[in-house]
Amino acid sequence: MTDIETVMRTAPVIPVLVIEDVAHAVPVAEALVAGGLPVLEVTLRTPCAFEVMRAMRQVPGALVGAGTVLNPRDLDRALEAGAEFIVSPGLTESLGRAAVASGVPFLPGTANASDIMVGLDLGLTRFKFFPAVASGGIAALKAIGGPFGGVKFCPTGGITLQTAPEWLALDNVLCVGGSWLVPTGRPDPAAIETVARAAAALRR
Ligand code: 3PG
Repeated sequence: MTDIETVMRTAPVIPVLVIEDVAHAVPVAEALVAGGLPVLEVTLRTPCAFEVMRAMRQVPGALVGAGTVLNPRDLDRALEAGAEFIVSPGLTESLGRAAVASGVPFLPGTANASDIMVGLDLGLTRFKFFPAVASGGIAALKAIGGPFGGVKFCPTGGITLQTAPEWLALDNVLCVGGSWLVPTGRPDPAAIETVARAAAALRR
């Protein structure tokens, strides 16, 4: 099993996926991997999410994780479905302890200093900064870099292809996340591959 730092360094952008039909899973994953974005966060926001993860894991080169993991039950179901990493929008002690105990690479959401300190207490130093723009944007994340020097982030929430470079330029950012790569509905693999290619070329 890999670690969360390796997951975060694999590509500059983690697509946040809301897949409504399991038939879309493989074409979306293939297009993203072909475009250079192999790290796929499948959110547990649709009834078919676990099935989507299982299908995407069959795509060569894909590194498939679960997002919107809210509690230990979600964690267990995601691990059963083969999730290779876990993302949550926030951090509770029960989820944090269960994720750490499982050994799975874990990226919990934090939006302020107190959240980060809860994570540090659990031995975590890599976080999603969520919701990135609404939580104070780049100015906030820069300020957090002062007291939390060794902590690194994947900002997510309100970031676009156009604004991603400003975030990726920060010292405490390893990658960014976003749902903008894959619009909901029937996928257009060629369009997804094109936007993935542009995202994969962003410099960090
Ligand atoms: C998430 O779950 O991480 C966010 O919904 C993604 O944010 P975005 O839709 O603004 O990219």
